Amino acid sequence: MARLDPHSYFDSDQPRTRHLDLDLTVDFARQCIAGRATLVLAEPASGPLDLDTKGLTIVSATSDAGGVAFELGEEEPILGSRLRLTLPAGTRSVVLACEAGPGAVGLQWLAPEQTAGRRHPFMFSQFQPIHARTMIPCQDSPMVRATYQAAVTVPEPLTAVMSAGPRGLRPGAGAGQRTMLFEMPQPIPSYLIALAVGDLVSRDLSPRARVWAEPGTVEAAAWEFAGVEEMIATAERLFGPYEWDRYDMLVLPPSFPYGGMENPRMTFLTPTVLAGDRSLVDVVAHELAHSWTGNLVTNATMDHFWLNEGFTTWAERRILEALRGEAAAAVSWAIGRTALKESIARFGSDSPMTVLRTHLEGVDPDDVYSSVPYEKGSLFVALLERTVGRPKFDKIIREYIKRFHFTSITTEELMTFLEQELPGAAARAGADEWLHQPGLPRNAPVFRSASLEALTALAESWAQGARPAPAQVADWSPNELLVYLQHLPRPLDGASCRWLDETLGLTGRGNYEILVEWLTIAVTSNHEPVFGRVKEVLTRVGRMKYLRPLFKALGTSVRTRSLARDIYAEAAPGWHQLSRRVVESVMEQYPD
Ligand code: BES
Ligand code: ZN
Repeated sequence: MARLDPHSYFDSDQPRTRHLDLDLTVDFARQCIAGRATLVLAEPASGPLDLDTKGLTIVSATSDAGGVAFELGEEEPILGSRLRLTLPAGTRSVVLACEAGPGAVGLQWLAPEQTAGRRHPFMFSQFQPIHARTMIPCQDSPMVRATYQAAVTVPEPLTAVMSAGPRGLRPGAGAGQRTMLFEMPQPIPSYLIALAVGDLVSRDLSPRARVWAEPGTVEAAAWEFAGVEEMIATAERLFGPYEWDRYDMLVLPPSFPYGGMENPRMTFLTPTVLAGDRSLVDVVAHELAHSWTGNLVTNATMDHFWLNEGFTTWAERRILEALRGEAAAAVSWAIGRTALKESIARFGSDSPMTVLRTHLEGVDPDDVYSSVPYEKGSLFVALLERTVGRPKFDKIIREYIKRFHFTSITTEELMTFLEQELPGAAARAGADEWLHQPGLPRNAPVFRSASLEALTALAESWAQGARPAPAQVADWSPNELLVYLQHLPRPLDGASCRWLDETLGLTGRGNYEILVEWLTIAVTSNHEPVFGRVKEVLTRVGRMKYLRPLFKALGTSVRTRSLARDIYAEAAPGWHQLSRRVVESVMEQYPD
């Protein structure tokens, strides 16, 4: 027996799933997804087959070779329950009838009031890192890749989208229902299976890209993402051909707990990226970049998560640099650096959660999600790039993607590859320290620009009376304004808060990065005029990246803590389970 993934019951000595055939019915009244999952095996097999499940009801198990005995193990808090099947000789496929109930962590069910249109319910999945098992029994480890097809039955007025190509409708669904068909012909890990159902319409952005959203949001979304084809073309020049046919996007309701999720052929996005000025489309660049780093070359387990996010964050900034120039990319690197410092401070600079190659046995990956794999990871990739020079490194990256595409790899496999292609380079960069030691190594690359230095200096001399002139502010890009805010001292006095808000027009901003940074400063400063806006944001938006700093700031005083508790009571029922958990962990640190 060989269990190689600390977060899965997948046993590498057992047969692997090669294809999944899903037939699912989405029942909004009961908040259930019920149906059948057929697992087609890579080769005929017999004996035990261990699958991951969590909170699932298993109704029956059969196979093309006869009856299948099944046994559902005890529920383990992180992994869930092992489903052990005993396959008769010559089994090529097994059919599992199953049902996922309202508690499934990987699914969020929204009432009509939680959507933009307020008329229809909504449901979406979020399976990374280990939640596919809450919808279907599967080998829920990224070491296993399978193609899939699906038939999804939904209430008549609603539309389903998946991380797959659409294959039309299947006739014969019951009254008031329709069955939509999907096919994903390329092998993907289970965490990239995705489903959303709601009142959805789409707008074409290019022959291979479109955006889906609720009717009231779709025009704004089409405007915001109009540049996506240029991004795809830029990414192809950098990383090689786009291998997934279409690149579509779905704008979710505001409770979506992440900024974006790279579901293949259908990136999921928070509506908070609709800033109205295209200033947050770097989230799209990031999710698009995963089409190469993450979805083609995938982390073998969550212990190698930095391979997904570190390479993708580096790739995102290379795309931005190509589109907007080196200075704009330097600003992004600076914002990343601030996030990294915050994460390292949160864990402690000697914490094992600040190494790149982690050892997460017994640790819930959702509990240790942070900027470390993104920012420390991308800095390490940038350091390798600097060590060998850009022309050579760009060739190596394309080679890396070609060599490992449609496979799932470990950090050690990456290092073996690098040693073959660029002998000695990893050692020169100090790779061992980067991968295995906590904190940020001293040889981390720094991305400088004159305007960045001026911005941070200006912010840091606030107490000495330095203030930006309004004409100067008008010249700043949204990201430059964000850098400025991030470097301001805090708390500030009431007059300073008023001056900032009046001069920079912060409380009314549509760019959530700027808005949340400002509200964090203002709350930390006990600046009452923003409290109403804080409540408005938190009762609407469930993106964890914004909940954490705001609730942390709300811990500052007795008064703000009581505000936090009011807001929590009102907002928590509308948040995703994962968002609720993050906020609860922050509030547990409150002194009273
Ligand atoms: N794959 C991640 C989101 C994720 C990671 C979900 C781990 C669950 C577990 C996605 O690509 C991501 O990184 N999103 C960022 C976007 C940002 C870095 C531009 C986010 O949600 O903030
Ligand atoms: Zn990512």
